Amino acid sequence: MVDVLSRCSQLVYKKAIKPALFKKPPDYVHETMIQYAQHRELLRLSRILHFMWAYDNPAVLAQKIGSVSFANPIGLSAGLDKNAQLPPICQRIGFGFSTVGSISAEPCAGNPKPWFYRLPKSQALVVNAGLPNDGAARVGAQLDKLSLGITATFPIVASIARTNSARACSEEAAILDYCISAKRLNAVAGVRALEINISCPNTYGGEPFTTPEKLSRLLAALRATHSTKPLWIKMPINLPWHEFQPLLEVACRYNVQAVTIGNLNKNRGEIPSGELPSQVKGNLSGRPTQALSNALIAKTYLHYNDRLTIIGVGGVFNAHDAYQKIRLGASLVELITGLIYEGPQLIGQINRDLVSLLQKDGLSSIGEAIGLDAQAAAQ
Ligand SMILES: Cc1cc2nc3c(=O)[nH]c(=O)nc-3n(C[C@H](O)[C@H](O)[C@H](O)COP(=O)(O)O)c2cc1C
Repeated sequence: MVDVLSRCSQLVYKKAIKPALFKKPPDYVHETMIQYAQHRELLRLSRILHFMWAYDNPAVLAQKIGSVSFANPIGLSAGLDKNAQLPPICQRIGFGFSTVGSISAEPCAGNPKPWFYRLPKSQALVVNAGLPNDGAARVGAQLDKLSLGITATFPIVASIARTNSARACSEEAAILDYCISAKRLNAVAGVRALEINISCPNTYGGEPFTTPEKLSRLLAALRATHSTKPLWIKMPINLPWHEFQPLLEVACRYNVQAVTIGNLNKNRGEIPSGELPSQVKGNLSGRPTQALSNALIAKTYLHYNDRLTIIGVGGVFNAHDAYQKIRLGASLVELITGLIYEGPQLIGQINRDLVSLLQKDGLSSIGEAIGLDAQAAAQ
């Protein structure tokens, strides 16, 4: 019954709602969606949506990573919920966890708009938001409020980036900026991990912590804040393995728990000419991130599965895409673009179909599937 309702919702989303939304500018849709998603009436309605779409997470989907329990492996990736306004609705539509942010020490207005551009043929978005957010103090207070409610059962990961301003460009200022946010967000009971975003490409000064020496200095400073939360690192996906691997070595040295692989694709070369005008600034999400992310997940799993948990992100539009990332080595999977292209019923559908895929392969838990294809893929 729930499956039928969910498939009907998908049809309605793809045939009626998405075409209407896609006629409006993506920045407008994003803003309006954030406003509506917090509305009390919609939250009430979302109880019905929960009944229609969310999947009653069975034990086969559950995992414990460190001390944190995840009811299912599908999470919202950083960037859609910049100010931690959506966790209640994310839980209702069936996510197993949610990453909020990226959050910086100072409030930031982001880059001049437009921030987003759609590439429907490529199943992608061009993103040039430049880390807009209300700053660690306000987002921390918002998370404190949420902690009283849902976060006991719904893990929240706080993504931290340096403030996108000329002031925070020097290495010293940037490190201080990360540490201020880490201290504030570490104090939020419901935050289960801090994800250090070292790979946001659309900002002042570029990506300053994607060399081993600089990453070491950042992680040493973060360690000195005595954070009690596990650290995750959001990795870039455009580095060749010989530059990516040294960053993983540094992550292991500083006891980082997980690497999120990965961020946006900076290479626009694969987009067919005509679909992406040269004046549109930004980097790619969705399908164009998938192959790069998958290759890095497999290699990282082969070399570091005993030391690092992998969160797989990039181009997940259905259960097959999510399962592929799990079989390549990801323990958890996150998405944004799939949600926008496929609709909010997608999360329940992925979880439901994941159970079928596990059964088909004779596996009795997500844990048994992690990394099964890593060896073959990395050759
Ligand atoms: C609208 C949008 C905003 C994003 N903002 C952030 C951000 O603030 N911090 C971050 O680490 N990643 C950000 N990302 C990258 C996503 O977290 C994710 O790594 C990437 O989009 C690939 O996943 P997807 O194909 O499922 O969208 C953003 C992506 C999108 C689409």
